[in-house]
Amino acid sequence: MTTPSDWTSRKVRETFLSYFEEKGHRRVASSSLVPAEDPTLLFTNAGMNQFKDVFLGRETRPYVRAASAQKCVRAGGKHNDLDNVGYTARHHTFFEMLGNFSFGDYFKEEAIAFAWELVTDRYGFDPKRLWATVYTDDDEAAKLWERYLPAARVLRFGEKDNFWSMGDTGPCGPCSELHVDQGPHVPGDATPNGRGDRVMEIWNLVFMQYERDAEGKMTPLPKPSVDTGAGLERITALLTGKNNNFDTDLFTPLIHKIEAISGKTYRGGMAEEDAPFRVIADHLRAATMLMADGVMPANTGRGYVLRRILRRAARYGRRLGIEGPELCGLVEPVFSVFEGVYFGDPHRTLKNEVWELVRSEERSFAKTMSAGADRVGEAITEARRKEETSLTGKTVFRFYDTYGIPLELIEELAQDEGMAVDRAGFEKELEEARERSKGASKF
Ligand code: ALA
Repeated sequence: MTTPSDWTSRKVRETFLSYFEEKGHRRVASSSLVPAEDPTLLFTNAGMNQFKDVFLGRETRPYVRAASAQKCVRAGGKHNDLDNVGYTARHHTFFEMLGNFSFGDYFKEEAIAFAWELVTDRYGFDPKRLWATVYTDDDEAAKLWERYLPAARVLRFGEKDNFWSMGDTGPCGPCSELHVDQGPHVPGDATPNGRGDRVMEIWNLVFMQYERDAEGKMTPLPKPSVDTGAGLERITALLTGKNNNFDTDLFTPLIHKIEAISGKTYRGGMAEEDAPFRVIADHLRAATMLMADGVMPANTGRGYVLRRILRRAARYGRRLGIEGPELCGLVEPVFSVFEGVYFGDPHRTLKNEVWELVRSEERSFAKTMSAGADRVGEAITEARRKEETSLTGKTVFRFYDTYGIPLELIEELAQDEGMAVDRAGFEKELEEARERSKGASKF
């Protein structure tokens, strides 16, 4: 039996892939974070993306079973986790999804049997701590789980939790999830899909059955298929006895680097004051991986999301006293964590290019920040002179629109001076501007 100290993220990844190879699956490399020829998708957001056309019957492959560890980013677009990052133990912009796929080969019975065997036998999770959920009317999946679990630990949920779609259109189907109860020492409800992190979803099994079109019409797929996704970060945390993904070997080298740069200490666990460490670690990891896949900072589309991620990291950096272009120091540990997994051998040039890009982005943002800080500072003095207690929506919108100063930064600066910001007024201005340039929105 493997003990918590034996597990590493590399071993969790490899155990998954070799298990499915043993079961006749082709090991397929991760695709790029930039989806190939798919305008419906901002970034690769699930393991199944590269197989979309295979599910839809538009493409065939020389195999009907596959398994992968897929690089994913969920920021912007349908599945967007950006604003949660830093304040929970398990949300990330970049993460790795472990998945097995059947293209019209096996369906629910084997998908569930594989998941059960891998989780209990290979990963060694205690069956008494496991729960399964199924889609409201999926009696078949419920019955199959009851081969392994008492009926009381197989729960039914609706569309929101147990029906999965890749986007507004594309392949979709009812899904079934496996959850692990970490025990009463972790705050939260003792049942799946409740409050807090106590019971954590680890694996989503999607029974791909339909293609949804732009009108919402669902057409059955040529063959029922399977698409699963298990979060590498969560499984690693659970197997190493941590209840926080940021305390695993995927993040600790990054956190240590932030400590070295800032001279501040990270406490571990979920202290709110430590959110900047988690935000920076997460965001520099995502930005590095995006740039390594060819995304460049820009003012529109993918590049704009990347820019926002970097700027959010830079703002949180300021809270730790990091002002200069120093977050680029995290590029190196990100490359080390993924050495041999996503980066082939001669990656020195790539690493240097990414480092340069991050540094130049940090520099230009530092300029916006200090110019922005001056302008906002003047407006605050002016408002105070007029005995006002908040910055008007018009003023804030002007900073945002004309000078590109992020709203969060304006709020932060105002807050430091005991001044409020008329957010509703700002939203109104923003809405009006959007109306004026309908169809030309930056996102
Ligand atoms: N595609 C499914 C998901 O992302 C497995 O959860």
